[in-house]
Amino acid sequence: MATALRMGYVGCGFMAQKVHIPNILALDGVELAAIAELRPKLGAKVQERFRIPKLYASHAELAKDPTIQAVGVSGHFYAQGEIAIDLLLAGKDVFMEKPMAISIEQAERILDAERRSGKRLMVAYMKRHDAGNVLVKKLVADARASGEMGKLRFVRNHGFCGDWTAGLDVPMDKTDEPYPAVQPRYPAWLPEKHVNGYLGYLQQYTHNVNLVRWLLDAGGDVKVKAVELDRERGYFGVVVLEVGGVQTVIESGAVAFHGWEEHTQLYFEGGWIRTEAPPLLLRNVPATVEVYRGNTPAKVTTHTFPEGGREWSYKAEMRHFVECVSTGAPFRSPASDTIEDVRTFEAIYRRHVEAAMVT
Ligand SMILES: NC(=O)c1ccc[n+]([C@@H]2O[C@H](COP(=O)([O-])OP(=O)(O)OC[C@H]3O[C@@H](n4cnc5c(N)ncnc54)[C@H](O)[C@@H]3O)[C@@H](O)[C@H]2O)c1
Repeated sequence: MATALRMGYVGCGFMAQKVHIPNILALDGVELAAIAELRPKLGAKVQERFRIPKLYASHAELAKDPTIQAVGVSGHFYAQGEIAIDLLLAGKDVFMEKPMAISIEQAERILDAERRSGKRLMVAYMKRHDAGNVLVKKLVADARASGEMGKLRFVRNHGFCGDWTAGLDVPMDKTDEPYPAVQPRYPAWLPEKHVNGYLGYLQQYTHNVNLVRWLLDAGGDVKVKAVELDRERGYFGVVVLEVGGVQTVIESGAVAFHGWEEHTQLYFEGGWIRTEAPPLLLRNVPATVEVYRGNTPAKVTTHTFPEGGREWSYKAEMRHFVECVSTGAPFRSPASDTIEDVRTFEAIYRRHVEAAMVT
């Protein structure tokens, strides 16, 4: 019998407690040997609740443990990238929450550390593990290869979001300890007054850019054609991209909504493929899969429940990480790919900031 992968986990906050630690503990082929948390009271509570053998006071301590092969990280959106660099250089394969980085400069330093270490970083984009999205990607590739639906002309991704936690009732330990200080290095062109807008937009729409690039098999072939975000928050609006040569719009916004409103529709000359996303944390409910064929006599719309649709996308994502580290198979979202999301984000927001300065 193959031995289980020995994993550590850094950061015991929301995503760790609600999602990733329970998922690691529920998987075969992996054992969670240690956690690290800068806030000692919080770390101790989480260690006790999940019965984790070892608690380290920081990621640097955990990194020195030679028995740990791979580490998951969910920290502050800037700090986690710096933590990933240290872990890679200490010889660990790393699973890290999105976004990969808050600047291209940071993303390039992370990639450089990955190359020098010989270890690998997977950035967690659970939408790529949603069984509905997996089926949509296949249907799009098949339709493009066969030409049966004509040319793919346009993609619309609409994400007005809502309640992303979707009633997830996993208990969570809290603490009165102060949050660890972080000094993020933002892109040099980003004025102070646009920092919150940039981070808010980045946090959410990195998912959408990452998904569309993957559905279209576009790699880094993304051009930013137009950006029209509201001047007040820098959040509501439309971004026009060319993704793998296909005109694509990303519509963004947030209203008080207790459900979730997000869809991606890929328009071919002869019909469309459309998927509606579940709220981010909703368990065991996949994205929907609809295909309309308008260029056939029957003009049929089909809805398919995807194979594997009852597995939580976040659990499938962690399973993928464990399997890839154990077998050497490639990650579905390696750092060499996710740097393209960071690049796209800088380009989108830089255009928004420049437009806001001249109007
Ligand atoms: N994929 C998704 O759907 C999704 C959803 C929400 C958040 N996220 C991402 O998850 C990340 C984490 O979010 P969160 O809400 O869990 O954060 P959080 O702030 O609740 O938790 C982070 C924890 O890390 C600890 N920490 C920081 N530096 C540390 C270090 N050097 N060593 C050990 N512990 C350290 C902090 O004390 C804190 O407890 C964010 O980057 C966010 O973008 C992803």
